[in-house]
Amino acid sequence: MKKRLMLMLLMVSIIVNAVLVYKFFYQGEKVIIKKDSRSEIKMTKENREYVMAEMRGFLESVQKINEGIAKNDPNIIAGVGQQSGTCKVNTVPQGLVKSLPYEFKQMGFQTHELFDVMSKMAKEKYNRQEIQVKMNELLNNCVACHQTYKITAEP
Ligand code: HEC
Repeated sequence: MKKRLMLMLLMVSIIVNAVLVYKFFYQGEKVIIKKDSRSEIKMTKENREYVMAEMRGFLESVQKINEGIAKNDPNIIAGVGQQSGTCKVNTVPQGLVKSLPYEFKQMGFQTHELFDVMSKMAKEKYNRQEIQVKMNELLNNCVACHQTYKITAEP
């Protein structure tokens, strides 16, 4: 009799555990996604890939600037103009410029320019704190544009 009770308890325990594992591990909480109010820019798949590659270059450059600040080494920062500066604007593919809203182009160009400015600061009159202040200006640009736009590829 006692054995049967133990077995019943064991069964109940296994079921309760299974339910808990399902509920908290597999199902998880429903994520509430804020409504996306960004403006959509449409372009060809190739042009989107071009822009995204440029973006990843931006992130790499930001990493380099931060590393330069952390190690107090302007040489690490000096190359970001080459990687993400205004020289990049000349290689933009045909048709892409046309598909971009004016504000996007303005913010984009400003961002390229800031990389040139920071590169120059690192080469000519390096000041750790001034670079950090510029870095903040730069990051504000990234944030502002990301809050405003998204890019979808046309089929
Ligand atoms: C002029 C507008 C603009 C600026 C400035 C900008 N971005 Fe972006 N970025 C975008 C858009 C639009 C996307 C695509 C978002 C989407 O479609 O959901 C994007 C995507 C990205 C991605 C994802 C790339 C991928 O492969 O998916 C990274 C990383 C990124 N941006 C980094 C940066 C960084 C770092 C900066 C600042 C130094 C920056 N961006 C500045 C507009 C901008």
